[in-house]
Amino acid sequence: MNQSVAVSTLEKSQRDRSAKPSTALSGDLVLQLQADLLAWYAQQGRQLPWRETRDPYAIWISEIMLQQTQVKTVLPYYQRWLRVFPTVQALAAADQQAVLKVWEGLGYYARARNLHKAAQIIVEQHDGRFPRTFEAAVALPGIGRTTAGGILSAAFNQSVPILDGNVKRVLARLIALRQPPNKVLNRLWEVSSQLVPGDRPRDFNQAFMDLGATVCTRHRPACLLCPWRSPCAAYNQNVQLEIPMTETRAPLPHKLIGVAVVWNEQGQILIDRRPQKGLLGGLWEFPGGKIEPGETVEQCIRRELQEELAIDVEVGDRLITIDHTYTHFKVTLNVFHCRHTGGEPQPIECDEVRWVEVAELENFAFPKANSQIIDAIKANQIHSKRQQEEGNRQQ
Ligand code: ADE
Repeated sequence: MNQSVAVSTLEKSQRDRSAKPSTALSGDLVLQLQADLLAWYAQQGRQLPWRETRDPYAIWISEIMLQQTQVKTVLPYYQRWLRVFPTVQALAAADQQAVLKVWEGLGYYARARNLHKAAQIIVEQHDGRFPRTFEAAVALPGIGRTTAGGILSAAFNQSVPILDGNVKRVLARLIALRQPPNKVLNRLWEVSSQLVPGDRPRDFNQAFMDLGATVCTRHRPACLLCPWRSPCAAYNQNVQLEIPMTETRAPLPHKLIGVAVVWNEQGQILIDRRPQKGLLGGLWEFPGGKIEPGETVEQCIRRELQEELAIDVEVGDRLITIDHTYTHFKVTLNVFHCRHTGGEPQPIECDEVRWVEVAELENFAFPKANSQIIDAIKANQIHSKRQQEEGNRQQ
């Protein structure tokens, strides 16, 4: 790479930008960036299972899983998903609960619901084949511009740009962007479009993501190992740790929740299925709700269970307290054992209610925070059984 040419081209485009934003990179610089990145990828690219296939279905699954989740977390889910739903037809024909169960623990469950809906659309409207045009791909539920680019470039080697979180950071540094990337997305899309080559777009986009994930990392970028070090405006200005600039965010709201593990006389527990629309839609949960100002947890649980399920309960001991952070808020779950004292459970604010045995709980898909409740119920059961046995021995 002719460093002085590259740097001066970028710095010049930076100066020009103060007058009128234009991000055009020179043709020579683009060619050099492409060649350097592809050469680096040949040596340092990661071997990942979705790179071993050209099956658009498998690639689509990987791109959706990778939207908000790291590669190492996705790997076992990806393998298991393809064993359970090996084709788009198998996914389309599955029951939604089975789909949510395989997704359980990955979070952002709208992704699983959208995959399921999109599979049905592909089977019904596209003859079971993943669409090859950008317009048809982005029209599917759960597929935005960058996911469509990721799928079409990886599956069909189409020259379509991507702009995921890693790529935004790499580009922001490459051009020493002095604004938060999300404020100037059009400009970053322009640069990504300029960079994706006509030949080898598949490898280029995969390399672009790897560069962000393994070298141009948020906190400790390994600039000395970077194939784009010499043209990188942030590196040349020594501001790589200040870029990308962050948006100032208001602190997340914090909700305090009362949660009931309601037992009946047969030793079963009451669970309910959340409405399809809204956060964690379609997943099962232990009933409860938000603690209102001035209310105790016990009062909240009795009120919520009356409002949501029309039942009376006696609130007993605390089982566990769980703190969990969702994308837009934090919750503290105050979980209490309760005894059912009256009323037939009605699905007033949920889609379904059921009494289940403790051993059956693992057959239902619950939000992540709830798996700790299930573990606590089981641990508590073992504990109380032991205590009972000890009591019997002493008698
Ligand atoms: N993140 C999104 N898509 C990816 C891919 N194909 N490989 C690695 N990380 C990714």
